[in-house]
Amino acid sequence: MNISFRINGTNKNVDIKPGELLYDVLKSIGISSVKKACETSSCGVCTVLLDGRPIASCSYLAAKAHGHEITTIEGVSREAEILGSLMNSEGAIQCGFCTPGFMLTVIAMKRELQNPDEQAIKNYLVSNLCRCSGYEGQLRAVKLYMEVPQ
Ligand code: FES
Ligand code: FES
Repeated sequence: MNISFRINGTNKNVDIKPGELLYDVLKSIGISSVKKACETSSCGVCTVLLDGRPIASCSYLAAKAHGHEITTIEGVSREAEILGSLMNSEGAIQCGFCTPGFMLTVIAMKRELQNPDEQAIKNYLVSNLCRCSGYEGQLRAVKLYMEVPQ
């Protein structure tokens, strides 16, 4: 079947197989930033934004993306540069494997929530796991990023 969607501001038509997952379709069209680990919607490494909301692309049927807007880290370069710089300075990036999915979730949170407290931040980020940096540096960077004017 053929589906169409917008990816990082560009219209795309893609032939997909029944049951094909969004992660695999994104890879097939050259989106290299999206990673995959658990494949069970548990780690958040494969996060992309669908109409601005974080989803796990490893478990999302590509057919359901028809007619929607998908954003990967390539599509939010200005925000990613600011957030990445804060994460670097707070020691929140080590291997970097989780970083694109984590940053997309933080960017979506900043767009969605007004002045979230620490618990609200933790709740929003609960599905994005990191296996090497720990979470304190990430939390410091996220709090600083939430203060940056939109
Ligand atoms: S690889 Fe998709 S949530 Fe872990
Ligand atoms: S920085 Fe390595 S998994 Fe998060």
